[in-house]
Amino acid sequence: MSRVDITTVADAEEAARLVAQRLAKQAREGGSIVLTGGSTPRRAYELAAELEPDWSRVELWWGDERCVPPDDERSNFAMAKAALLDRLERQPAAIHRMHGELGSEAGADEYAHELDGVGPFDLVLLGLGPDGHVASLFPNFPTLDVTDRTVVGSDAGHDPFVDRITLTLPRLCDTRELLFLVAGEDKADAVARALADTPSQETPGSLARSAAGVTRAVLDRAAAAKL
Ligand code: 6PG
Repeated sequence: MSRVDITTVADAEEAARLVAQRLAKQAREGGSIVLTGGSTPRRAYELAAELEPDWSRVELWWGDERCVPPDDERSNFAMAKAALLDRLERQPAAIHRMHGELGSEAGADEYAHELDGVGPFDLVLLGLGPDGHVASLFPNFPTLDVTDRTVVGSDAGHDPFVDRITLTLPRLCDTRELLFLVAGEDKADAVARALADTPSQETPGSLARSAAGVTRAVLDRAAAAKL
């Protein structure tokens, strides 16, 4: 496994700012960005929109989605829309959202089709669950073994308990940069297992590394406490 370049900062706000700077840089350079869901990246998205309001050079993708309509409060797309897209002066060249409202199987098939022929991503952003999950790849789920598909449907392995659509590990890792953003003391155990321990299906985050590029992590001090 490639090593992870770890940056630890004082608090969640500073971590969000660093990641926002990285997102804004990619928006200026163009290319492709894969967004993550959950609550931690919200502040990074808000700050990224402030730093760079023109995202017309990039295409946006998602690492996972909950199977709910796009305006549902649990939707990862809805979070990114409110925190990022609605604050931009110029929208991304393409917004490839996962259609959670189709259900996990049809939604995964549709997204796999959308990804057909798409090369390595430029930047994949990932959060980390307290159980060590990334995207909607949950500990010891059979989805971790899938290598012949880019997108799969999954049961929920974590709150909110709705079905999921998720990129598979090989597709998530096919990126020039894979960047973790993790904050909070409830993540400290998972961070230690994902970034410092032997890779294991018990901690999907330990299996998420850029295949041919760099893997970085921006952590706040609380999340880094057990490293
Ligand atoms: C999702 C995510 C998921 C998330 C982690 C951390 O759809 O839930 O993409 O992998 O990144 O659960 O979420 P928090 O930032 O809310 O802790």
